[in-house]
Amino acid sequence: MTSTLHPTGDGEVFSPIRWQGGELYLLDQTLLPDREEWILCDDVDVVADAIRRLAVRGAPAIGVAAAYGLVVGLRGAAPGADLEERFDQVSELLNGTRPTAVNLSWALARGREVFAREIGGGREAVLTALTDWARKLHADDIETNRRMGQHGASLFSEGDRVLTHCNAGALATGGYGTAVGVIHASWDAGKVAQVWVDETRPLLQGARLTAWELRRLGVPFRLVTDSSAGALMARGLVDRIVVGADRIAANGDVANKIGTYTVAVLAHRHGVPFYVAAPLSTIDRATASGTDIPIEERREDEVTDVFGKRIAPAETAALNFAFDVTPHDLVSAIITEVGVLRPPYTESIRRAFGAAES
Ligand code: MRU
Repeated sequence: MTSTLHPTGDGEVFSPIRWQGGELYLLDQTLLPDREEWILCDDVDVVADAIRRLAVRGAPAIGVAAAYGLVVGLRGAAPGADLEERFDQVSELLNGTRPTAVNLSWALARGREVFAREIGGGREAVLTALTDWARKLHADDIETNRRMGQHGASLFSEGDRVLTHCNAGALATGGYGTAVGVIHASWDAGKVAQVWVDETRPLLQGARLTAWELRRLGVPFRLVTDSSAGALMARGLVDRIVVGADRIAANGDVANKIGTYTVAVLAHRHGVPFYVAAPLSTIDRATASGTDIPIEERREDEVTDVFGKRIAPAETAALNFAFDVTPHDLVSAIITEVGVLRPPYTESIRRAFGAAES
């Protein structure tokens, strides 16, 4: 079910997720930039489907959507149903939608803590507590991104030409964005001259979404094919690179949209700083290194077809890894809400969590 709403988020910050009148609405990002339609999620299957087909996407946004999804799912329990069983079913359904973005299981684990604490009070108490928690998680994500933006902007210099890959902006988060949040804050500080936007095959999150966001923000940008990155760097046209992350291992290895690794290798070759902007909720300390990160493999027709039209000969086999892993030694810095982390990441990540927990 869709609903057309004016696409503004809470306050001044645009968010692709709205909790309005006790209902969850997700901006259908598969229709951008042509149409801005909101999906009314009155069933947890609608939320799960929206995550699976990338109507809502980007690690932090998936986490926030899943948090509200728990509320929608529990509310849909049949009268007299066992709520613990229902919670397990709903949580499992949501958790199975996308494997790489750790913010999903992170949010569901926190939701489970709220559920366990409140279930003694009965159905209404648990629904109220989960709703309040999901709304706070959403608001906290925006605040986290703003802080990340400030820390990230301190790394930038006036006149910087910045390259980014995929979409790690407001659309990929509760609001404001991670990598695009850093670009936004750096632009506000007068430091960004121009952004290079990788189109990001196969689903074109750069061309469709990052371009849409930067236009709204008024930040000058130029769209380039993914394979242009090397030529741009070789010509000295890129001063910095900033990307987001779906999961960062304890040693600083970074899983992000397919093609990120290629950009990082090129950055190393050309001496261009390569930054990753991500909240602590994207750092998975239980995963030792990038080789342990589950990498989502998506349907072949996302590669063989473009907007529903086949571009490869019939029956062409394709391989569609949605993400790749950039080894930590190619990452110049990880920008988080508690500050800029530098190598060795095993140490700086441990210290960052210590600072956040104290
Ligand atoms: O497949 P997507 O569009 O969900 O992939 C998104 C990315 O790779 C983003 O860079 C990442 O999730 C960080 S979003 C702040």
